[in-house]
Amino acid sequence: TGKRAFIAGVADDNGYGWAIAKSLAAAGAEILLGTWVPALNIFETSLRRGKFDESRVLPDGSLMEIAKVYALDAVFDSPEDVPEDIKTNKRYAGSSNWTVKEIAECVKEDFGSIDILVHSLANGPEVTKPLLETSRKGYLAAISASSYSYVSLLKHFLPIINPGGSSISLTYIASERIIPGYGGGMSSAKAALESDTRVLAFEAGRKHKVRVNTISAGPLRSRAAKAIGFIDMMIDYSMANAPLQKELSAEEVGNTAAFLASPLASAITGAVIYVDNGLNAMGVGI
Ligand code: NAI
Repeated sequence: TGKRAFIAGVADDNGYGWAIAKSLAAAGAEILLGTWVPALNIFETSLRRGKFDESRVLPDGSLMEIAKVYALDAVFDSPEDVPEDIKTNKRYAGSSNWTVKEIAECVKEDFGSIDILVHSLANGPEVTKPLLETSRKGYLAAISASSYSYVSLLKHFLPIINPGGSSISLTYIASERIIPGYGGGMSSAKAALESDTRVLAFEAGRKHKVRVNTISAGPLRSRAAKAIGFIDMMIDYSMANAPLQKELSAEEVGNTAAFLASPLASAITGAVIYVDNGLNAMGVGI
């Protein structure tokens, strides 16, 4: 309660970012969102027209309030990094201050500080290709959007995260076990994200008393996951093989994020927390 959260990677009400926002709001946090520039217009319009009102309902019956939505493209750190074709692209030209450094500055100006930073975004242009068929460009794009984006966000926000604050990202078991179909270097990107979670926990902990954890989430039918193409199969597989044979709800991941951001988790940092109905613990399907 009384905390402020910035959640990067919300562009509709289907993904983990939205569910995390709701759980944090239910716990009394003020919510700021970072939305991918090309998706911003439709997200804000839908929000304004009440399209998300049903999914904004919190357990106490009130509607989740969003204090501000910031345009964000997490593959660019500062305006100097933005190539001409993006600068002049009409979906980008309508917004401003959407590089990571600029957003951190704007949030500081608008609100002063935050307590919770959430990274709930990923992108791998060649995700449907096996690793052996992935180009260098595709691989590096996956790492840039899905791993370095987190390093950059934390780096730029850290000075305005209050001591005792908490940072959370979302990862997937394909980082450590073979998940055919999760290609394009996305498995590599998640491995980097998990390793960085440990190193960043050390650096942010020593420097700013900020905790850094990642949630290894089970399969959810989000927009991003549907683009990969095998999400229904992964949900069925989990239902058949996990210790808990139920569909995973985004809310279960949201609630874990709220726990990790709270003082209840004050000694947890550098951790990969599995929220997957226990599937990660299985050795064989049965
Ligand atoms: P989602 O589609 O709700 O979220 C992904 C978001 O990333 C979208 O809002 C998209 O606009 C945004 N995005 C993409 N490129 C961006 C960029 N350059 N700058 C800013 N935003 C950008 O999908 P989902 O699945 O909820 O993804 C959230 C996180 O959860 C991701 O890290 C994903 O890898 C992770 N995850 C998802 C699982 C699933 O089954 N859905 C399983 C385990 C982890």
